[in-house]
Amino acid sequence: MSNKVNLKPRAMMYPAPAVIASAYDEDGNADACTLAFATMCSHKPPALMIAINSTAKRKTLKSILERKEFAVGFPTIDQVAETDFIGIASGYDVNKIEKVGFTTTKAQNVNAPIINEMKVSVECKVMNIAEVGSHTQITGEIVNIQADEDVIGEKGKIDLKLLNPIVYDDVLYDYFKVGDKIADAFNVGAKFRKWMLRLGKKR
Ligand SMILES: Cc1cc2nc3c(=O)[nH]c(=O)nc-3n(C[C@H](O)[C@H](O)[C@H](O)COP(=O)(O)O)c2cc1C
Repeated sequence: MSNKVNLKPRAMMYPAPAVIASAYDEDGNADACTLAFATMCSHKPPALMIAINSTAKRKTLKSILERKEFAVGFPTIDQVAETDFIGIASGYDVNKIEKVGFTTTKAQNVNAPIINEMKVSVECKVMNIAEVGSHTQITGEIVNIQADEDVIGEKGKIDLKLLNPIVYDDVLYDYFKVGDKIADAFNVGAKFRKWMLRLGKKR
């Protein structure tokens, strides 16, 4: 085993996504910002959680808190420059969505903009808001998922390989793509359990 070193505490999670949250502002214009603080958090009802820095100027946060509805889009690896730009420019200064050549349509089940160029978008209603340190954590109930047909795989579900989402490293500030599948979840462990049981009997 190699030696362990202690590092300064910081927010971290591996792997982190790079997603784009969007909401309408008070004038009905679409706001959007890139987020790495985003994860699923409930099966029933289906929900996800995002966290936006409330100590800094974030137009999208204001819009989500006002509208109580938002969308989260999953950009693909070929949209990495657009995604990064949406994460460095503020809607207070520039119409980012238009600037990068993206377009929006009102979501089907919530009053929030869906970025048409996202191959997968989830529509959310705010369930819970919590202030956690520097960030406002927003839990959104997922009331609809829109996906382009070309990311639907053989099983009739979204296929990660077809979607090609962006993986983000918030420690070194790098973007990655998803690698190869390594095993079937809930299956490789079950096989391992059987193998361990067999081994135990032999002893
Ligand atoms: C890869 C990446 C991930 C980011 N993740 C977050 C995040 O999780 N929370 C946050 O508050 N800001 C995050 N940001 C920064 C915001 O996207 C950025 O401040 C944006 O300009 C806010 O835009 P707005 O003022 O139009 O809402 C991220 C930026 C990048 C490039």
